[in-house]
Amino acid sequence: MAKADCKQCAGTGWVTGERDGVSSAIRCSCVAESRAEELEAQSQIPENYRHASFETFHLPHDNPTAQKTLADVMLAVSAYTRAYPDNNKPGLLLVGPPGTGKTHLAVAALRLLLARGYEGIFFDYQNLLERIRAGYSETLGSSSREAYRFALEIEILLLDDLGAHRVTDWVEDTVTSIVTYRCNHRKPLIATTNLTDPDIGGTLLEKTSLPGGHAYRTTLEERVGERARSRLFEMCRVIRMPNVADYRIRPHRHY
Ligand SMILES: Nc1ncnc2c1ncn2[C@@H]1O[C@H](COP(=O)(O)OP(=O)(O)O)[C@@H](O)[C@H]1O
Ligand SMILES: [Mg+2]
Ligand SMILES: [Zn+2]
Repeated sequence: MAKADCKQCAGTGWVTGERDGVSSAIRCSCVAESRAEELEAQSQIPENYRHASFETFHLPHDNPTAQKTLADVMLAVSAYTRAYPDNNKPGLLLVGPPGTGKTHLAVAALRLLLARGYEGIFFDYQNLLERIRAGYSETLGSSSREAYRFALEIEILLLDDLGAHRVTDWVEDTVTSIVTYRCNHRKPLIATTNLTDPDIGGTLLEKTSLPGGHAYRTTLEERVGERARSRLFEMCRVIRMPNVADYRIRPHRHY
């Protein structure tokens, strides 16, 4: 759709341009712009991440090691979006502690892809499961059933906070079916999780201030099941976040 008030094409969507030295009608740039705006409006990106981008992602200046690793993470996510859709693995999995910028970077990637005309949707994991469950348990209308269909069919699915939910067989089956379906059809999945995994160097024991000194950390496999975990690793480039301080509780919320 062209923009009705476009000064270049007066809303027709066509301008005169030159192709191989011959003047001809070409698509006005407002057509792609308005598609991108429409895609962003439909993407369900939460308000507080609406402006998340690589430009608004800051690197810590007080810690050279963290700065380097976080810069590498950002470059890897950016390389994924640039190569898209020709990545050797169709998905991206960002793993690491809360507040390290996983959702920020996942949304930054999604927004760039929306701007290029791909269709994508943000789903909070817990919210998605609740909506799918509501669709099963009642003769509810389309909106809840749509959640499941969207999770399967949408071009790009951003699944935020994967595994942040108590485990039931139903949850495990649902997540497995979504991940398996997307994996089989090579449909990209951009996911984030706080859960740990021994295969990506996540320690199962975490130092805590509690008496005893250690707490056991839940693994990805415990929350989503072995099959979903293995499919995720198969389809996603796994990116581990460095252990930087939680951005939310940093003084002035700034590096
Ligand atoms: N390096 C960063 N630069 C700018 N903002 C950041 C950075 N890291 C996190 N934030 C912001 O801090 C908040 C928490 O980050 P978020 O991406 O939600 O963390 P996570 O998903 O890892 O828990 C968000 O508002 C996010 O935009
Ligand atoms: Mg998050
Ligand atoms: Zn135009």
